[in-house]
Amino acid sequence: MTPAPSPPRSLSDFEILAQAALSPMAWEYLAGGVADEETLHANRREFGRWSIVPRVCRDVSSIDTSLQIFGRRHEAPILLAPAAYHRLFHPDAELESVRGANAAGITFCASIFSNVTLEAIAAASTAPTWFQLYVQKDRGLTRDLVQRAAAAGFEALVITADVPVNGPRERELRAGFHLPPGAERANLAHLGPAVAAAAHRPFGRNIYSAVRTPDLTWDDIAWIRSLTSQPMLLKGVLHPDDASAALAAGCDGIIVSNHGGRSLDSVPGTLAQLPAIAAAAGRNAPILFDGGIRRGTDVIKALALGATAVCVGRPYLWGLAVAGAQGVAQVVDILRMELEMAMGLSGAPTLDDVRRTLLQPAFQRQ
Ligand code: FNR
Ligand code: LAC
Repeated sequence: MTPAPSPPRSLSDFEILAQAALSPMAWEYLAGGVADEETLHANRREFGRWSIVPRVCRDVSSIDTSLQIFGRRHEAPILLAPAAYHRLFHPDAELESVRGANAAGITFCASIFSNVTLEAIAAASTAPTWFQLYVQKDRGLTRDLVQRAAAAGFEALVITADVPVNGPRERELRAGFHLPPGAERANLAHLGPAVAAAAHRPFGRNIYSAVRTPDLTWDDIAWIRSLTSQPMLLKGVLHPDDASAALAAGCDGIIVSNHGGRSLDSVPGTLAQLPAIAAAAGRNAPILFDGGIRRGTDVIKALALGATAVCVGRPYLWGLAVAGAQGVAQVVDILRMELEMAMGLSGAPTLDDVRRTLLQPAFQRQ
């Protein structure tokens, strides 16, 4: 057993502490991927395929990690990825997470599957937030959610497209995953307990979800575009042609993601897909990236390969489980500090200096 790292100094220290703090069911839900978890591991492995070749004698006395996304200044190229059911990790659920994001000075993206309403999250936040939508079979409900999010003041809409059907989440099944009292989907509560139960019935031949639609097409994306003037991003893009199609359907940005290895197993690690997607999307649309970001050097590699910014998923939930808002803020602070150190040590004092030329393959691909 690894001794508990106290105080935690790295994101992986938080991972160890979070596992100790959580019930086995919550831990398996948080940590797990699908099937054999090849993709979950590929996300991390891809970072090891690249080395950073630092440049010296570049003045790094001032390091600037700030950037603009959709006209809004971000202090660092790091956002918190949407994640469901924060009450599994902390009694104050998403309210605690958004406080942590606020304290750390970065943007929180709320999942449609939050345990408090999207209005409550928006009201608790002192900074701009984003909202993530799973398109619902009932398009009227979908429209209501888009309009509620805009009315509540969320600044961008993330549409997640990469789980049209369920994947085999065996670790969840073995742990008897269910939504305990208080962990219901607050934004969909009016659908009633039958839908709620059907939506997470882990046993049996359960391919379709009651709270995600399997019939999503580009026409829906274009239709959602007509409902809102908010910036809109498509999350779960792994193919360059889908990046082009998303922009053609009216999206303003892309999130390169395989859902943290939680949707289809055997898909590539996200970093492997990033350069081709960035090339397809061109320079005008922000390209966000997630999957396996654990170190400041990971952020550098993603940016150098074409990402505008990255999202982190599991690490901030580790922080939430360990120390609530303070834990979320500590996780982000560590990652931001590591990014600043990595930029300084690479001789790249601004994000514009973080270029493909900083990287070389760590070893030849087979
Ligand atoms: C997720 N993810 C996710 N994505 C989404 O669009 N809506 C959601 O509700 C959720 N829920 C969710 C729950 C949990 C516990 C995890 C770990 C992940 C996926 C998430 O947004 C992101 O794509 C990955 O977590 C990124 O990978 P890392 O940073 O966890 O490696
Ligand atoms: C997950 C879903 C809720 O990854 O997106 O657990």
